[in-house]
Amino acid sequence: MIGNASALFRATFGVAPRVVASAPGRVNLLGEHTDYNGGPVLPVATALRTTVAVGPGDAGVLELISTRDGERARVAWRDARPAGWGAYLAGVMRELDATGAAPAGAGARVAVASDVPVGAGLASSAALTVAAAQALSLLAGVRLSPRQLAGAAFRAEHDYVGVGCGIMDQMCAALARPGHALLLECASLAARHIPLPGRLLLVDTGTRHELTRGALNERRAECEAAVARLKLELPELVWLASWPARWLPRLKRALPEPLRSRALHVVGETARTRFGAQLLTRGRMRRFGELLYEAHESCRRLYECSAPELDVVVAAARRAGALGARLTGAGWGGAVLVLLGKRDGGKGKGEAKVSKEIRRAFAAEYGREPSITRVRPSGGARGKIVTERGAGHVC
Ligand code: GLA
Repeated sequence: MIGNASALFRATFGVAPRVVASAPGRVNLLGEHTDYNGGPVLPVATALRTTVAVGPGDAGVLELISTRDGERARVAWRDARPAGWGAYLAGVMRELDATGAAPAGAGARVAVASDVPVGAGLASSAALTVAAAQALSLLAGVRLSPRQLAGAAFRAEHDYVGVGCGIMDQMCAALARPGHALLLECASLAARHIPLPGRLLLVDTGTRHELTRGALNERRAECEAAVARLKLELPELVWLASWPARWLPRLKRALPEPLRSRALHVVGETARTRFGAQLLTRGRMRRFGELLYEAHESCRRLYECSAPELDVVVAAARRAGALGARLTGAGWGGAVLVLLGKRDGGKGKGEAKVSKEIRRAFAAEYGREPSITRVRPSGGARGKIVTERGAGHVC
């Protein structure tokens, strides 16, 4: 993949890039729609990555190319907001510029290669913005910490592009460790890496969603409306996730639908995620898996962010004896995460059975098969400064 972005850069601009950086997509084990409500999340970085190769460019100009559409664009990003994925790059440049970490003249040439599917709930935009923040800041000769990278990437997507996302995806793309899940408390940004036993399958249903002006922003507004009302009960409430779980009857009385259901999901999911992290730490995978099924049900019924394709996959996984399964990411389409036991009959027999049942059930309903792959829990952003001779050193 690094080769791809570098090769694309060379082929497009006729010179070698100065810096190449990459960042992963993610799946989320537990903690869906809790990040922008100040709750905990438990994501895992995938081996699917986005790679960004950069070199110096004209002041105030981004010259862009990507393997995805192959179309070259040249944008004076201060004058006009670029269309499509270019807006994410402009957002990153703007953030770096504001903090003194942008390359000279805040211009650059950029080539992007990615195998993170877009709109599948696998955080393709965070992989792009974190990798871009890493590449462009290194081009400027500035070494940002993983948290600073995540911050710049988050503001680019949230403030500039206007997606009502939380901070989970960017923090995972920047901080993740191979073989570990990341427990992140989104109000304090306290983070802990937890070893991940068991095996994960990713079932991509092929259905896609559009986040920018879509349901995510609507849900976020509902959560904010719930907090505004709940402040009558608890004047100092800032985050919906901080509502005490023992006060659920009071919450139910205070909120009309659909705010009540949304808030019940967030408060329940918050408790589930913290409990799940304890179970994972102790290796209690069976009970942990049950929480995944519970989380899916809560997303489906209370947060109403599932889709029939996702429900079919989760039901099939359960029938075939998977430890747990749930939609991952924002929902409304995209992918399902399936948890299998570590031993799994010794030879992946359980895995074969679960995959077969998922394929069968999905094909019976939709006349096609979903893509099923193993998740390899991977590491966060890395960057490489390319020296004259083409060798580089890794940051
Ligand atoms: C999207 C957002 C994340 C998070 C999830 C839902 O992926 O980008 O910040 O809110 O939805 O958990």
